[in-house]
Parts: sequence; structure tokens; C-alpha cells
Amino acid sequence: MINVFGSRVGRKEIEEVSDSLSKQWMGMGAKTKEFERRMAEKLDTPSFLLVDSGSNALYLGLKLMNLPEGSEVILPSLTWVSCAQAVLLAGCRPVFCDVDINTQNCTADTIKAVISDKTAAIMVVDYAGLPVDLDPILELGYPVIEDACHAVDSLYKGVPCGKSADVGVYSFDAVKNLAIGEGGGLISDRHQDWMERASVLRYCGIGKSGFEASTHGKERWWEYNIVEPFIKMCPSDVAAGIGLAQYDNLEENQKRRKKIWDIYQEELTKVAGIDTPVDAKEGDRHSYFTYFIRIKNRDKVAKYLFDKGIYSTLRYHPLHMNALYKFNKSLPVCEELNETGLNIPLHPSLSDRDVDYIIETIKSCEFIRA
Ligand SMILES: Cc1ncc(COP(=O)(O)O)c(C=O)c1O
Repeated sequence: MINVFGSRVGRKEIEEVSDSLSKQWMGMGAKTKEFERRMAEKLDTPSFLLVDSGSNALYLGLKLMNLPEGSEVILPSLTWVSCAQAVLLAGCRPVFCDVDINTQNCTADTIKAVISDKTAAIMVVDYAGLPVDLDPILELGYPVIEDACHAVDSLYKGVPCGKSADVGVYSFDAVKNLAIGEGGGLISDRHQDWMERASVLRYCGIGKSGFEASTHGKERWWEYNIVEPFIKMCPSDVAAGIGLAQYDNLEENQKRRKKIWDIYQEELTKVAGIDTPVDAKEGDRHSYFTYFIRIKNRDKVAKYLFDKGIYSTLRYHPLHMNALYKFNKSLPVCEELNETGLNIPLHPSLSDRDVDYIIETIKSCEFIRA
């Protein structure tokens, strides 16, 4: 079966893991620090905090925003479940907005449609790594958390995605553009004091340990100062080491993703019955995390591909349609995408043969034209 998502790891990643193990150091340490330094450099921001998942980074990011209990956070319905769960866990109510049919991103207009007097913040998502049009959203005047989990290599108006929001969040899970198994991270370019707090929260809310705080001969260095209640979100140096190797390979892996994306565009745009995705605008950069098409008879096409050994999926089943959130408004574009959207395989370990096979199989599928 050809997988729909994936990453590419090789010798460098294995060497990094082996290095951690041979140093007898698996926990958070020097490799974590180095990965954070490089990510901060890449994102052109003073500091980057690595945590154990993008999901937890979203929760941590919302906590940093100090949103009033019971207030509302607007987010697109077409996103991963962690986005809404993080809002709930932060003591707020998720309010879903629609997305643009062509970009699959929320817009200032879709957000405006659901603003209320309880709105406290906005969460945007760079779907597939296509930068959301952030400036008109920032102009709405609310704090913004940007889920750039698909967008580690994306630029909005020449600036790394995540940097212009109050908090930017990234995922490094096993299939992301920069994959470390499980991991995530956050930045807050304009609130460096939030980053200091985030670093304390990541380790159960412990401030300086006795060892760090002691000014009198390091006495009782085992005592620590618990600043606020929080859970543990520490990464491991094993994962961070994989991250260092993936960081070095990012450019090459991104080239491969873009090449496949371009071939799909070239070939599938010609096929009647398929709506292909839009690329980034001039001055922006896409991360090509996934390739999203819109088709009639989506379910039949997905089954046809499955039977031919090609796995496809829909990211995401719109959250507002999930009973847990008790959301009773209709969001027509998300609902349309729920019937027509399909993510087909895109990742750097696809071979040229895989890509040709996927294209030929899609072209041979009569349900697309029906
Ligand atoms: C848009 C989006 N946000 C958040 C996450 C959560 O990231 P993680 O898997 O690292 O927890 C994902 C993961 O797939 C995602 O796609």
C-alpha cells in the first residue's frame, strides 16, 4: 500500500540516535538545546521551545495567552482535533468558522461571521502549509495563535509562518515535513516573557531548581520552586537528535515534496472533474505537506484507489460536525469539502514510479468523470 503521508529518514538520523544512546543521554539535554537554537534561527526569532507534541504546544500556547475562563476562541472547523481540544482544556469554548473553498484556510471574512462579544482569541491554521492570509486577521484586533504544524518551511509575505502571530505552533510528528517521531514546538516572537513562562511550564511549572537558584555555595540544590500548576511536556534528546538530522535534510526533502506537488499539478489539472489545490501567492512559500483535491464521487474514488494499493484520506472531518462540540451552525464550505475533499499521497519517500502509478490510476478512474 502506498501511504498518504510519510517522511524520509536515513543514515544521519540513525547516527544521531546512536550518538544519544552511546552517550547514555536520552532525556532533554544538549541536542534539545541545539535543535531549539537552529529552529529559532530558521524562524528568525529569539527563542524556540521544543515540547513533546504539536497538540501539547497548542495547549501550552493558549495557556500563555491567559484567556478568560469561558471565553471563545474562533478556529477553522477543517483542522485536527487537537486544536479544539486544546481550546477546551484551556478553559475556553471552541467556535468554528468556515474556510475558503480554494485555499482550505479560514479568512478574515469567515472569522468575522462568528465573532461575538465573548470572542477572546483566534486560532488560524496554515492548511497543507499554504500560508493563511494573516494581515487582515490580525487587523480584527484579537490575539492570534497560528497553527503552523503543516507550515514549518512556509513564508507569509517573506516572513516565517508563526512568527507574526502572538504564538506560532509547529508539529514534528512522524509524518510532518520535519519529523522526529513525536514532537512539537512554539514561538512567541513578540512576547519573549511568554517564552520564559513556557519554558517553566514545560517542566511541570518548576522554576529555577535549588541548584540554579542557590547563591550560597549550592546548598540544598535538590529543592525547587514550583511556580504554577502544569503538566510535563519535555522532549527527549533522542527525538531532538533526529530533528537535527531532519533539519539538515529539510531543504532536500522539501525539494522532493515540491517536485511531486508540481507533477501532480501538471498532470491532474488536465483531468476533467478534478479541482487541484492552489499554490502560494508571490512573496509567500508553501510547505507542500499534503496534496488536496476536490472531486465528485469522492468515496468511490477513494475506494478505487484503495483497491489499487493507494491509500488516500480526508484531512479533516470537520470538527463542527462532531457531536462532542455541540455546535449547531452550518459551515457550508467545510460541509462541501467533507463530501468532495481527498488527500492523495505526498511525501519525500514516494518514488518516481509511485508518483507515475498514482497519476495513471487516478486518470483511469471512471468515477472521476461520472
Ligand atoms: C493542523 C494540525 N494541528 C495540530 C496537530 C498536532 O500535532 P501533533 O501530532 O504533533 O500533536 C496536527 C497533527 O497532525 C495537525 O495536522
